[in-house]
Amino acid sequence: PAEDRPPGNLYLVGLMGSGKTTVARIVAARLGWPWLDTDDLVQRDAGRTIPEIFAAEGEAGFRRREHEALARVAREGGRVVATGGGIVLLPENRALLRSTGFTVYLEVPPEELHRRLSRGRGLASRPLLSVPDPLGRLRALLAEREPLYREVAHAVVSGRRGPPAAVAERVVAAW
Ligand code: S3P
Repeated sequence: PAEDRPPGNLYLVGLMGSGKTTVARIVAARLGWPWLDTDDLVQRDAGRTIPEIFAAEGEAGFRRREHEALARVAREGGRVVATGGGIVLLPENRALLRSTGFTVYLEVPPEELHRRLSRGRGLASRPLLSVPDPLGRLRALLAEREPLYREVAHAVVSGRRGPPAAVAERVVAAW
């Protein structure tokens, strides 16, 4: 039962397009918790979109802002937190994800991520995928990051199959 759990956040990690934000919203409604997205916090703080931050400050500037957003959220607790796909790159972020809540890795194969991100502004809104071969880039990012997602995760949930509500149910069951 929730009242027996240590205070902390419920974090969702995984690659771009894995459904972190959509699933976070549903899990939060289910638990009666607020939800937030570190990408939204970064954009609000910067007063710029993510592509604008990458263009003006580079990826390093974005990572610094992302760390500040996570550190702030980590002090709160009781929130469902969708994170950016690269949050696990900084060791200090991995330490926060391990120690300030429960972290779920949403696992989805790169081909499925590519299908989902090819709709709407999925690729255009993500500077790391604004390349000639986004599927190749997704595969490379997964090779680099998969060990890091597994390192921070208290549980791994398949985000591949079923509607977002079914994925959210699996997250709640794993928590
Ligand atoms: C990134 C993922 C994005 C966003 C930025 C960088 C990454 O978040 O933080 O474009 O390095 O994987 P989503 O995973 O929410 O798309």
